[in-house]
Amino acid sequence: MDIEPTFFDSPGAGGIVGQPLDRVDGRDKVTGKARYAAEFPLPGLVYGVLRTSEIAKGKITRIDTAAAVKEPGVIAIFTHENLPKLAKTPNTPEGKKAIGAPMGFLPLTGNEIHYANQPVAVVVADTFERATHAASLVKVSYEQAQPIASFLDPKAEIFDPQKVQDGKTDGHTRRGNPKSALAASPIQLKATYTHAINNHNPMEPGSTTAHWEAADRVTVYESTQGVTRTQQALSEMLGLPRDQVRVITKYIGGGFGCKGSCWPHTPLTVLAAKAIGRPVKLVLTRPQMFTSMGHREDQTQTLTLGATKEGKLTALIHEKTSTTSPWDNYAESNSKIIDLLYECPNFEATYQLARANVMTSTFMRAPGEAPGSFAIECSMDDLAAQLGMDPIQLRLLNYAEKDPSTGKPWSSKSLKQCYARGAELFGWSKRNPKAGATRDGKYLVGMGMATASYPVHNSQGTARVRLYADGHAVVQSGATDLGTGTYTVMTQVAADSLGLTVDKVRFELGDTRLPTAPNSGGSVAAGTVSSSIYMAAQDVWQKLTKLAVQDKRSPLYRAKPEEVTNEKGRLILKNDKSKGEDFAALMKRLELTDIEGTGNGKYGAGYESGMAASAADSGHKDDAGQHSMHSFGTHFCEVRVDPELGTVRVSRWVSVHAAGRILNAKTARSQIIGGSIFGIGSALMEQTVRDDHFARYTNASLADYHIPVNADIPEMTVEFIDEHDPYINAMGVKGIGEISMVGVAAAVANAVFHATGKRIRSLPITPEKVL
Ligand code: MOS
Repeated sequence: MDIEPTFFDSPGAGGIVGQPLDRVDGRDKVTGKARYAAEFPLPGLVYGVLRTSEIAKGKITRIDTAAAVKEPGVIAIFTHENLPKLAKTPNTPEGKKAIGAPMGFLPLTGNEIHYANQPVAVVVADTFERATHAASLVKVSYEQAQPIASFLDPKAEIFDPQKVQDGKTDGHTRRGNPKSALAASPIQLKATYTHAINNHNPMEPGSTTAHWEAADRVTVYESTQGVTRTQQALSEMLGLPRDQVRVITKYIGGGFGCKGSCWPHTPLTVLAAKAIGRPVKLVLTRPQMFTSMGHREDQTQTLTLGATKEGKLTALIHEKTSTTSPWDNYAESNSKIIDLLYECPNFEATYQLARANVMTSTFMRAPGEAPGSFAIECSMDDLAAQLGMDPIQLRLLNYAEKDPSTGKPWSSKSLKQCYARGAELFGWSKRNPKAGATRDGKYLVGMGMATASYPVHNSQGTARVRLYADGHAVVQSGATDLGTGTYTVMTQVAADSLGLTVDKVRFELGDTRLPTAPNSGGSVAAGTVSSSIYMAAQDVWQKLTKLAVQDKRSPLYRAKPEEVTNEKGRLILKNDKSKGEDFAALMKRLELTDIEGTGNGKYGAGYESGMAASAADSGHKDDAGQHSMHSFGTHFCEVRVDPELGTVRVSRWVSVHAAGRILNAKTARSQIIGGSIFGIGSALMEQTVRDDHFARYTNASLADYHIPVNADIPEMTVEFIDEHDPYINAMGVKGIGEISMVGVAAAVANAVFHATGKRIRSLPITPEKVL
């Protein structure tokens, strides 16, 4: 297929892309027609409930299900003593983990307890209430051992993961000679930043409905960010060919990364359904969400910064320590953003882990970039204060004209425009540079800002377009919609690419029977899927062109295919647009009811170099290319701090981002607002508290784990810089799912510093830290 992959000057563009179109799935969602993973009314469906461990470390000495199993409605109770075996468990000693299964351990495969709330039984009954009641009657006796709660525990053994195994979640990096450059620097700042455990807590908890249609064929309705990844994980674990495992995800109520992988409750539900010969659905409870699908790990980072007297960075040294599970070496890669945000010739990053009795942590919105930007952006603020320099001036002085971490030119970078526009919208020039000097009544007022960036990860996906002679189209790609607008923006892209109006396009996603698409993760979905659809539409146009130039009755008869283009649903000559015909006329004359095209959308360096990672990859992988590809942006925050109570209230917010083509002004604005609020939550409220002694959780509910509500958030101003990037993909889309959260915590902390003169380096910034 020889298609010119550029949409910018494409005459197919009908002006729908970019418009603030209302969600095409909005009505189905508010009327309840939209079916989430736990809402498929299958015949004979029964309910699974997890019973979990009260202790964080030890052994089950006895598990007594006798009373529970006699309760009315109870169908089966599975424990480590009777759970059917998987073909491959994540913890098969000789085997590697299944693709897409992030945890190197599956509960109910033995009597060992490794973390609090580890599932110890799956109870299946005819109603949810009966299953829940029976689960409470399962008696578990333990031989308890002293758990390790975190890397801070004196008994925790801190190790360098690179020496243990090549867990490539965060590399040790070095450029130049940072130690000697630092020693020679007139300005040296060293500071330690801590980040609490954060849990994703999407509105819809993890849920699985498993339906075995035959002994060797299962359909799983799953709340996942990627049907392909879940299919891969389950087919490996079950030992079934992939086409015998179908995964369907039509709607998701948020994910933030925790639904990017196949966690233990999913295979447990699938096994239970198989064993009882009936479909089973299992929905995690809110408290179970805190120990079932990963979390952002508790961590400390030390950033040492060297600079000249003028404020030019000379050296950056980053060290990170975090908690991991007994089996996995997961760590967010905080250092990557620190390595590329500013021009700095000397850089070093190392990280360490400690095993504790916790489940495996995982990626959470802007994994690495969010906490990493907290460290570098607060340190830059400190440096500006020490130099008496404006924080934006300092950033411009250290502006990276090419990627410092690779030396490659940027595919595009509009950060200077973001700073300028953000400062203008926010009224930055009115800021009194002196910290602690601005008051509004009893409140201390502070203004802070920070830079944001997020990589364009490498990925690819596929799409199929079926265009009907009656003027409508069905467009398909096995993507998922986290709730952020995939259905809507892809309908817009398809409409423009085909020259149709949006009401003539039906876009289908969320099924492994559709063309393969990557996870909605790593901000790759918008760019990959939109480009696949665009390419599939071009495939249709090529096929129609071929038919037209061979058809004596066509005005394009005997034209050379390369002389033909398309515009608003018409095939026309490039140099004589009056000559041509509608696709519908051509197809009707040829008695074609429909025509199909397929497209492969590449994204990131893979688009540029013609190489791409596996389509099933979540996108958290980079490939070699000529350019460094990133989105950039900036956040501005105003806070009001009550000096008597120590409370911090965000009173104004401005975000300006440049992320290539914006597919829908309304959903994009919502996504930036959502990510910023998420970041404000991590800055001021969110913390999962794990008890130091018992390694159990003290606040595993939304009553106790605080997230921002409407009253905590002011009116937010969001703008995008118009940016055309010809290198990233056919559509020029960089993606905005995660950049929205990067730099947010730093902007808040910098505003708190400006209000109070007090630098708080420990998230969340709760009142006792402010006082
Ligand atoms: Mo997102 S944290 O890349 O699923």
